[in-house]
Amino acid sequence: MKLKFTTTFKILISKLLPDSEKLRYLFWLPKLHTFHRKYGRQSTVLKSRKQLYQFVNSYISNEAITYCEFGVFQGASIRYWAQINDHVDSRFFGFDTFSGLPESWNNFTGGLEKGTFDTKGLVPDIKDDRVSFYKGLFQDTLPDFLLGYQSDKLLVINIDADLYSSTLFVLTMGHKILKKGSVILFDEFSSVLHEFRAFEDYCAAYGVCFEVIAYTKSKKSYYSHVAIKIL
Ligand SMILES: C[S@@+](CC[C@H](N)C(=O)[O-])C[C@H]1O[C@@H](n2cnc3c(N)ncnc32)[C@H](O)[C@@H]1O
Repeated sequence: MKLKFTTTFKILISKLLPDSEKLRYLFWLPKLHTFHRKYGRQSTVLKSRKQLYQFVNSYISNEAITYCEFGVFQGASIRYWAQINDHVDSRFFGFDTFSGLPESWNNFTGGLEKGTFDTKGLVPDIKDDRVSFYKGLFQDTLPDFLLGYQSDKLLVINIDADLYSSTLFVLTMGHKILKKGSVILFDEFSSVLHEFRAFEDYCAAYGVCFEVIAYTKSKKSYYSHVAIKIL
């Protein structure tokens, strides 16, 4: 059988180029720049994650929220959110295996092993009745949580799960409760093969419109922490 030139070329390329994580990373990196040019030019630029959280809480006027955090570890960010949003009607839900990452996480310069962030099952001790935790894989806990979900409060989702698979699962499952005005926070958005790619894929599949309210830029961080509002 005589193959078309383009077919032969594709087969050749698929055999010659290495199936490399680094190559994929380099391929995706310019997409972050394109994303910035399209959505980030008018956004507020902040120096740290805490500043971003404070900014978002002021942006929403400290109103009552349903805050869902995916990836809790020892609770640094959920604790901080419960401090800055002191509305009595706010509720804070933290989701994590509490046994660490379910898969290894790779980025260009290294990565983290499966099991990193293991707290040996311990959930953070936060003395605030508004805060509760769901222990287990998001894939196991989120469907049940959503079955009982009835809140009409503003939804703030904080995704700090590092992994593409976990992030994509949360976004696609959470789609039914994400509404106009809901806020999504990412913690490792510059990790282009993971949180960024998952968000791109989610938006492509569901036709989501959004604006970037703010992102961080400092010596240590460029687009790591991003706040996005659903339009
Ligand atoms: C970077 S840590 C979270 C850090 C935390 N937000 C903080 O402020 O310190 C990432 C967490 O995501 C959790 N995680 C990732 N994928 C998960 C999944 N599919 N189900 C449950 N937990 C997951 C890991 O167990 C890990 O504790």
